[in-house]
Amino acid sequence: MNELDTLIESARTAFAAAAQPADLENAKAQFLGKAGRVTELMRGMAALPVEEKKSRGAAINLAKQAIETALVERRQALADAELAVQLQAEALDVTLPGRRREPGGLHPVSRTLERIEAIFSSMGFDVADGPEIESDWYSFTSLNNPPNHPARSMQDTFYVDLRGEDGIPYNLRPHTSPMQVRYAHQHIKRHAAAFEAAAADPTGNVKAPEIRVIAPGRTYRVDSDATHSPMFHQCEGLWLGENVSFKDLKVVFTDFCRTFFESDDLVLRFRPSFFPFTEPSAEIDIQFQSGPLAGRWLEVAGSGQVHPNVVRHMGLDPERYIGFAFGMGPDRLTMLRYGVNDLRLFFDGDLRFLSQFQ
Ligand code: DAH
Repeated sequence: MNELDTLIESARTAFAAAAQPADLENAKAQFLGKAGRVTELMRGMAALPVEEKKSRGAAINLAKQAIETALVERRQALADAELAVQLQAEALDVTLPGRRREPGGLHPVSRTLERIEAIFSSMGFDVADGPEIESDWYSFTSLNNPPNHPARSMQDTFYVDLRGEDGIPYNLRPHTSPMQVRYAHQHIKRHAAAFEAAAADPTGNVKAPEIRVIAPGRTYRVDSDATHSPMFHQCEGLWLGENVSFKDLKVVFTDFCRTFFESDDLVLRFRPSFFPFTEPSAEIDIQFQSGPLAGRWLEVAGSGQVHPNVVRHMGLDPERYIGFAFGMGPDRLTMLRYGVNDLRLFFDGDLRFLSQFQ
């Protein structure tokens, strides 16, 4: 191996040993820099005779080119390696499953409430909303259930640490029935002129405006088992007018149940019962004629003709205003509609259960 080949070889070795770009530039200076070995060889030519200069110069130039090529290659190799390290560090694992955004949906009980509202709206009922923290007067007394009346023990109520003007604590409403009197008060205020005109007309020719409303919402009782939850839903209904009878209750509620369950041969039974705010009172049972529940009587609502004392508390004349009320359980309707046998499932918030209704 001649002297120039040895030089090329040692340049290659030095470049290969450079692990970083800065090391490589230092190695380059040793061979190609101003005081580098190639430059030295060039200078050494000055002493040669002219005829040798030519061939020696060409040979040195070839060696220089070979060294430059080795340098460029090593630079590229270092840059490639650096890029590879960077890519490795920033690598995305595209084989991971993506995070999908699942479509949301309504809770099954919300679906029932929407259904109830749609059906009663189509029958001309207003839909009203009211407070869940209620005064003793609205929850009980206005509904003909005064303090110390034994009928109060029908409901095991939650009380809150706040007393009303009567000194009695507010309660978490145990039913939606207070909405009967609340809504009547609001409605009479809103249509004051019409109610006053009817009240002031001794002939009875000026018709009394009707009150026709449902009030769905949350209710609370100290109660918890497979069919009772401390928080549950009710939907109150009220229709008062000059001529609204128990027969209308039967028609309206039968219509509602058949529409709700999409079953024309559904049979209803009105079973005598007691509620302080109605007289007479009835529990409403339904019976499916087909399907898994066929033949069984299932209780779905309490109902009755609104008690005169309740009409009085609304600020209306019970001689003129007559009608019916009912209170039903949307949770129970949901259980019946979907064949669910444990009410608590609805309120556990387990998506494996809830997503089945979408
Ligand atoms: N409030 C009653 C309850 O929670 C249900 C009820 C019965 C409501 C008869 C009514 C009614 O409006 O007329 O048990």
